[in-house]
Amino acid sequence: MGMDLNPIEQDMLAGGQGSATKKAMQILLALGTIYGARRMIPVHSVQIAGVSYENLGEAGLEFLSEMADGGGRARVKTTLNPAGMDIENWRSLGISAEFADKQQRVIEAFTRMGVIPTCTCTPYVAGNLPEFGQSIAWAESSAVCYANSVIGARTNREGGPSALAAALTGVTPEYGFHLETNRKPGITFKIESKIQHTHEFGALGKAIGTKLEKLDTKPVPYLTGITGVTLEELKSFCASLATYGGAAMFHMQGITPEASQFQAPVETIAISQSDLDQAMQSMESGKGEEVDFISLGCPHLTLAEIGHIAVLLEGKKVTKTFWITTSRPVKREADRLGYSQVIESAGATFATDTCCVVAPIVGRFKVLVTDSAKACYYASARNKFKVVIKPFDQVVAEALK
Ligand code: F3S
Repeated sequence: MGMDLNPIEQDMLAGGQGSATKKAMQILLALGTIYGARRMIPVHSVQIAGVSYENLGEAGLEFLSEMADGGGRARVKTTLNPAGMDIENWRSLGISAEFADKQQRVIEAFTRMGVIPTCTCTPYVAGNLPEFGQSIAWAESSAVCYANSVIGARTNREGGPSALAAALTGVTPEYGFHLETNRKPGITFKIESKIQHTHEFGALGKAIGTKLEKLDTKPVPYLTGITGVTLEELKSFCASLATYGGAAMFHMQGITPEASQFQAPVETIAISQSDLDQAMQSMESGKGEEVDFISLGCPHLTLAEIGHIAVLLEGKKVTKTFWITTSRPVKREADRLGYSQVIESAGATFATDTCCVVAPIVGRFKVLVTDSAKACYYASARNKFKVVIKPFDQVVAEALK
């Protein structure tokens, strides 16, 4: 059975609202048909991935320019995933002028379409915060997991083109996590150890993700045994669970907003201290080697985390390249509060709008130290760095050694 389009959607499909909107509706119709959606539903916000020119290349830039030339305009609040450079201070990151020119053209194509050029994987702390129960169309895997699980908004993990299509039409096909039935938990993970700090929640994401990957079905995990968790720990866990388990949603008993609607599923996997130790060890490839790169902010740092770095760096000097990655709105706040000045005086560098994974720095460094399980995976798989994972404060200490 095909999808039912309302008269406005039919007009979009027929080209009545311009060639870009027509293309966008074609993309959504094809997607909806593949996944058996019956209708389109309105989205409240969009977050688009595939922003770094490093990932997009010339073909991607051409597609975006065509959509902008074809009159495509965002109909809902739309922000972007990290770009390949700090949009304002790309030179300080050693980015070439040629790359910067291409990246600027990508951002210009998006802004011509009315997209807000906030480039971040934590839109929920940078001005794009949906409400519980709202349908959205987000693309960044860690943000999708956070939106579904922690906020209780509803989104599938969109690709770059389908997220843009949702922005230009204001709708998305109703399937997957937009439907109540697909949000039910299918397996319990009983956490038997106390987990604290961002790096340990990253290891937990890897431990659960690895076990999920081995299951034939992709059940929504239901976690028990976690008694307290911060926003920063949740963002770290979401990034890791999405990276290692491909999960777009979980429930955490007593913590996430939809968990109380369900009983813990009977099928249970225990996560022991040894599972966590093994997960932690398995991420490290650079232990004992000379460190030349430090990065915090995967996913992008919150203001509280930046404030904490400022406290740790006050009056000191870093001895290695140290990237602080965050969004532009959070960086501005950090400027106003004086945190940026303290951090920059210590010799660390803000890599705003970007990160140590999507910037074009393949092979530039040998050993990265981070608190992020996701960064461990991608910095080594994509950028060919060896990696060491440490607690947040010890990562800062490593930069001062
Ligand atoms: Fe964000 Fe880059 Fe990590 S996009 S989640 S900081 S890999």
